[in-house]
Amino acid sequence: KRVAVLASGGGSNFENIVKKADDIGIEVAGLIVDRKSARAVERAERLSVPYEKIIRKEYSDRKAFERKIVEMIEEWQAEYVILAGFMAILSPDFIDQYDRRILNIHPSLLPAFKGANGIRDAFLYGVKVSGVTVHYVDSGIDTGEIIMQRAVALCDGETLESFEEKIHETEYVLYPKAIQSVINLSEEK
Ligand code: GRF
Repeated sequence: KRVAVLASGGGSNFENIVKKADDIGIEVAGLIVDRKSARAVERAERLSVPYEKIIRKEYSDRKAFERKIVEMIEEWQAEYVILAGFMAILSPDFIDQYDRRILNIHPSLLPAFKGANGIRDAFLYGVKVSGVTVHYVDSGIDTGEIIMQRAVALCDGETLESFEEKIHETEYVLYPKAIQSVINLSEEK
């Protein structure tokens, strides 16, 4: 199965998925970034994955921006859309077009700590357990049906940095697993 990855930032999840692609039976057909500064692009170059920068403000409206995203997904013949730190909000029209074929990873145990700062918010709240969620994307923010979750404990003396590191390590295990399970499910049908 061919997938397109959408990212806005560092791209460590993108790189992890590319490296595990063979094991989970996918091919990363391309990377789309919506920010000029997205360092994910450097990883794509190093890993020889095609990429496209689609910068929101260079498009007159969201429709035109999303049309370009769809164009690339179609050109790459990708069936699944994997969001990996993609910060733009996709319209209901876009989401309907890829019903149950858009996945996202969120660094908390949803529905707790939605939003852009899931790791820090959980840390500052003082929870003793947080974690990682992979879910289907629906038209809400971090609200789609949950595919897999894994808990991460906060130990005594945990710092934000050590906690962040544990969350990311868990993401690198959970996201490939969840992608694989969704693809296997679709093949059984
Ligand atoms: C991850 O923590 C992911 O859960 C969140 O954005 C972050 C992306 O990190 N949605 P990276 O760009 O993959 O390094």
